[in-house]
Amino acid sequence: MIKRQWIRRARRTLLAAGATAALAAGLLTATAAPSQAATQGPCDIYAAGNTPCVAAHSTTRALYGAYNGPLYQVKRASDNATKDIGLLSAGGYADAAQQDSFCANTSCVITVIYDQSPKHNNLTQALRGHWPGPAENGNDNLANAFEAPVTVGGHKAYGVYVAPGTGYRNNNTNGIATGDQPEGMYAIFDGTHVNGGCCFDYGNAETTGNDDGNGTMEAIYFGTSTGWGSGSGTGPWIMADLENGLFSGVNRGVNTGDPTINHRFTTAIVKGGPNHWAIRGGNAQSGGLSTFYDGVRPNDTGYNPMKKQGAIILGIGGDNSNTGQGTFYEGVMTQGYPSDATENAVQANITAAGYNSGSTSTGTLTPGSRVSLKATTSPCCTSHYLRHNSADTKVVISSVNSASSATDKANATWIVRAGLANTSCLSFESADKPGQFLRHFNYQLYLNMDNGGTSFAQDATFCPTAGNSGVGTSFQSSNFPTKYLRHYNYTAYIAGNGGTNAWDNTASWAQDTSWLTAAPWN
Ligand code: AHR
Repeated sequence: MIKRQWIRRARRTLLAAGATAALAAGLLTATAAPSQAATQGPCDIYAAGNTPCVAAHSTTRALYGAYNGPLYQVKRASDNATKDIGLLSAGGYADAAQQDSFCANTSCVITVIYDQSPKHNNLTQALRGHWPGPAENGNDNLANAFEAPVTVGGHKAYGVYVAPGTGYRNNNTNGIATGDQPEGMYAIFDGTHVNGGCCFDYGNAETTGNDDGNGTMEAIYFGTSTGWGSGSGTGPWIMADLENGLFSGVNRGVNTGDPTINHRFTTAIVKGGPNHWAIRGGNAQSGGLSTFYDGVRPNDTGYNPMKKQGAIILGIGGDNSNTGQGTFYEGVMTQGYPSDATENAVQANITAAGYNSGSTSTGTLTPGSRVSLKATTSPCCTSHYLRHNSADTKVVISSVNSASSATDKANATWIVRAGLANTSCLSFESADKPGQFLRHFNYQLYLNMDNGGTSFAQDATFCPTAGNSGVGTSFQSSNFPTKYLRHYNYTAYIAGNGGTNAWDNTASWAQDTSWLTAAPWN
């Protein structure tokens, strides 16, 4: 009797959840994102569908309407102190200002992503596993806490930016599916920050940290890897990492039913039970979910029945392969195989939450805005802008104007980021090469992929000062404070006002190191 009442109540809640969320999603197309917290979170909807969350991770918002605990913990470089980052209100959005003030004038990494479910399956730094071999010791990197700024419901928040080498894990979980038990999971990823490395995953993996054979993991993979399988187009694809294989459908290899999906905020779903699994996905900012595969287990040995071990990974493969990259905002794992209807209601809740890119088009040196940086040296270069080359990784200046090609304009546009090594300074991410930053190496400027390391962060951090020529802004190298971002012979360096390198030449140094912050070309 009590059970029947509970089921009736659960059904009512689920219907109400779907209706409220669908209504909110409909309204969203006409109005700005709501600023109030949802009364229900995705995990309330999964619970009502009788598939409760057994892990709920997010650095941006509460995943239960009643959750009021910490979302994640950061550690700052200046004194190794840690701080939990919580919510603005119960069931609401992250209080990003806590991170901003705690990490001011230094840098911070994300040390713990708390599990909001009652299972306490927190994610922490992954330890080096089987891959790339026993000779390699040490742990994965932790994510820079400032590298994935967004707004959610109009509130500033930070995602988990996984550069290659970054990874989180929990090998000692409670309540996560093992063996052939059914489970579901979704995650929200940045569809523009991907690569083909192995393996940017979120979900169920080996508790040993090793590759324990086919079927020992079941995680969402997101990226452009074609090493095991792929979908149609050029990717990225949502695939299921089932160990020794990224599956886009029933076959190992290409399954054209799994489309390229690259929304700025992409909802990715994998779920699996006895000889049945599915891939689903959609745009986390609007609309519903589509099903890309729904059928039996892959027709390859070892995947039926599954032998899931129940660890949780984020950003890495089951054996800790860590060359993948991506950005994670929120995700959950459930007990039981969620119905499509439950997931559709969760998607409506997600679109109603109001994810938005942190980038604006203001042309100011504010983190999140897009800028172009104009040289001030007359007469050579006043129509020249700082840009990366297309053919190689060098950073140069060249003339850009309204008639320039789209490529030239894109190459000369930067997204201002909080300094990777010091939040009171700045870093510059390429607007057309997400994840790649302006950095010096041997005093020359290049555009390189952030590898998550501290040296890279230092080399990619510049502190703005008044222009050395009295005009505009100069950018002091964070780790070589006597050197400033300079163009010399149309190539970019960090240069001192006199020194041993040709580009330290004192002639025109003040003008060559002074830049105007201009509206973005792209
Ligand atoms: O299944 C793809 C990858 O293969 C897994 O993530 C990893 O454990 C193995 O290297």
